[in-house]
Amino acid sequence: MASIARAAALRVPVTLWMLFLVYAIARASTCSTCDNEPEDNELLQVREAGMSETKVEVNIKENTSGTSSPDSLSFRVIPVNLIRPTFFKARPKKVVVTMFGAGTRAAVGATGQLRALNAMGLLKEADEVITAWGGSLATSIFAYAKGKTKEELLGNETAESLGSLDMATIQKPPGGILGRAVSPLFPYIAWAVGLGVPPREGLEAALGGNWLCPFNLNGKLPNYKLASLFARLCGDGLAKHQVWTTSKKRLQWIKERNPDLDVTDALTLNGNLKSINIISTLFSPQGYKPNGTSFVTMRMGPDFCGSPYYADQQNVDYEPFNESAPLLKDVVVGGGLVETFACLSTKPPKSPFEQAGRRKGFTEAEMEDGGVFSLQKAIGMSNNDLGLLGVTPNGTALPSLLAGVKVYGGIVRDFGWPSDFPDYSEAFAKDPYLFQSTGNYWPVAGYAKASQGDIGEKSYYVGQGGSVEGAGLIEAIRGGADCVLALTNTQYPLEDPGDVDFCAVPSKFTDNPSLLIVPADEGGPPLGIVQSFYEYFGLAVPGKLFEFTFDYSNNQIFDTSLLFSLFCDAQKLKKDGKPVVVYREYTTLKNRHWGIEAGKRVKIVFSWVEKSSNWEEQLPNETQQAINNGTFDSVGNRRGFPYLRSLNGTSIPPPAGDIAALAAGQANLYASLAEWSLRQNEDKLKTCMGVP
Ligand SMILES: *[C@@H]1O[C@H](CO)[C@@H](O)[C@H](O)[C@H]1NC(C)=O
Ligand SMILES: *[C@@H]1O[C@H](CO)[C@@H](O)[C@H](O)[C@H]1NC(C)=O
Ligand SMILES: *[C@@H]1O[C@H](CO)[C@@H](O)[C@H](O)[C@H]1NC(C)=O
Ligand SMILES: *[C@@H]1O[C@H](CO)[C@@H](O)[C@H](O)[C@H]1NC(C)=O
Ligand SMILES: *[C@@H]1O[C@H](CO)[C@@H](O)[C@H](O)[C@H]1NC(C)=O
Ligand SMILES: *[C@@H]1O[C@H](CO)[C@@H](O)[C@H](O)[C@H]1NC(C)=O
Ligand SMILES: *[C@@H]1O[C@H](CO)[C@@H](O)[C@H](O)[C@H]1NC(C)=O
Repeated sequence: MASIARAAALRVPVTLWMLFLVYAIARASTCSTCDNEPEDNELLQVREAGMSETKVEVNIKENTSGTSSPDSLSFRVIPVNLIRPTFFKARPKKVVVTMFGAGTRAAVGATGQLRALNAMGLLKEADEVITAWGGSLATSIFAYAKGKTKEELLGNETAESLGSLDMATIQKPPGGILGRAVSPLFPYIAWAVGLGVPPREGLEAALGGNWLCPFNLNGKLPNYKLASLFARLCGDGLAKHQVWTTSKKRLQWIKERNPDLDVTDALTLNGNLKSINIISTLFSPQGYKPNGTSFVTMRMGPDFCGSPYYADQQNVDYEPFNESAPLLKDVVVGGGLVETFACLSTKPPKSPFEQAGRRKGFTEAEMEDGGVFSLQKAIGMSNNDLGLLGVTPNGTALPSLLAGVKVYGGIVRDFGWPSDFPDYSEAFAKDPYLFQSTGNYWPVAGYAKASQGDIGEKSYYVGQGGSVEGAGLIEAIRGGADCVLALTNTQYPLEDPGDVDFCAVPSKFTDNPSLLIVPADEGGPPLGIVQSFYEYFGLAVPGKLFEFTFDYSNNQIFDTSLLFSLFCDAQKLKKDGKPVVVYREYTTLKNRHWGIEAGKRVKIVFSWVEKSSNWEEQLPNETQQAINNGTFDSVGNRRGFPYLRSLNGTSIPPPAGDIAALAAGQANLYASLAEWSLRQNEDKLKTCMGVP
């Protein structure tokens, strides 16, 4: 274990970005729009949203005062119980794209991948995009930004004009989504810290300011009008928690049940994506330790939010951080969904949802102070790994983080904010998850009487979507997908065949595949645990990964032996200078933890963004030269382009470069490589998706 901790410490800078990174009196008994009600099974929006906005008469009473604060919300709940064990039914298509991966690099890669899918006409074939971490930044802007074309958001296609990517062109600061990737995030964090924003809300505010604000998608920003840094970017943009939902039709439906709710600036899908499912993780109640048994993913979609599934298919216990506090026992987690605007935003309902004589599935509950659940909060949570700060070995992560913040002390002072940063050591002693986002959660299951146990409301740590699985495959499969495009944007290269040749695997690894995930000094490969997708083949460190909050050890859904041939194909493609995209059809193994049955056939496209000579050769000579002389490498990263680090990914050392942002050349080239890789593999994507 000691050496795993050591390996983890070495990787700290890398992981740092991730740091950042029913009164159930259903009152709908007199429902005036029942005929228009969206159905329960629209989690993939296949019927409602389509690719263009649903045309409905919208007649919303506008409350121009904008300060309406109803003290209760009326919303829909979907318990998952014996009567309705699933809601993923009756869907004509089951194609899911997953976009995970940490930090700005992943946001940039996702942008290129969206470009490619759009160019091939395949976006409309995807029922849902499941995303976490950096991928959620790009996809939610693409799905919600108004008044901009797809090209303005994603940037121009490059796959057929690689020769035009000369040095002058690629170093121009890009616009749209990539423009946010090259914009420094740390001034916002410094600003938030300086303003005294509570530690657990700092990242959310910074992401809202840097990524969402220019698209008017941000939620409430602290002291918004006073903060010139934000005002400069956001102009007179909004600074309130907007309702975000699927369509104007659903918005109207929400408004009719909640006449006091301010929906004047509500966000509805712009038609670029059918649906988006942002993933975060419900870790544990505040003051208690999260672990792999009790974690559960939260889906945060435009329609419904929460965990339909139970943690480990059972009630769970939590150990306190403070040993003198009692164990929390028999806690119900999961078991249903609520409409997203009410997610983590209301007190628990007072009695069951489904009462005799009332319409099923509606509830009314008192609103919490935070107001409705915003897109900004969803993104803040999906990217927030700051829980790591207090639990990294010897607290190594916090000083690095604060060093990043302090770089901007000067800038912050220019804006009139204090330069002294709080000393968090005492607070950490009480709560090592001090920087983790939190939300008040109560399980739907309990109130639907689907489950016995502790159903009380608790303040939960809610964070990073990649904590439970690394690529979204399980979330897709258990949601009913039969084709998954699993698009990664990792910072690690595929294993070098000189280290582990997957086409001629040394018997030490075939006999004992778990050696692939131990440090080099224990017989593992030189780079240690670096691969995407291993977890799905049963390779993950039990209990924890990198000593932090991740646990992928419950995630085996395919036979371990399949891994060798998958990675053999990947290594061959890379050796030939081709884009590394591999198509497979697999049959699932039973996975009790996730409730996955054995024997389900799944088609999967595994996609990596790897160094490719075929791509490089088409670039102008000077750009090729620059790639190979290290111009676009992350500072101090011997792996080179395209293996940009999740944090400190920039090629420009701070203070000129931001430790979260990338340089323009890096963003343009990485997006282009990610785009081109998919474009070269149209046949594989279409085979998976069932498109002729
Ligand atoms: C608009 O909001 C204000 C402030 O909360 C409230 O007093 C008023 O009743 C609302 N008007 C309507 C028409 O909902
Ligand atoms: C993108 O393409 C459009 C139309 O071809 C062109 O007018 C525009 O200048 C291009 N933008 C960039 C940044 O190259
Ligand atoms: C998580 O904690 C609970 C409660 O202490 C315990 O029962 C369970 O075995 C733990 N799981 C892991 C993977 O450590
Ligand atoms: C943590 O501190 C202990 C005691 O000072 C030391 O032995 C250990 O190597 C440190 N671990 C890391 C990961 O730095
Ligand atoms: C742990 O709990 C005890 C008893 O409630 C309390 O006295 C002590 O201050 C707590 N320790 C921390 C670090 O919060
Ligand atoms: C790029 O370099 C190659 C080999 O050095 C040379 O043959 C080719 O003409 C160059 N292309 C351009 C456009 O300069
Ligand atoms: C790398 O190559 C580019 C393109 O030729 C050039 O502009 C740059 O100065 C070179 N950098 C170094 C460090 O050699």
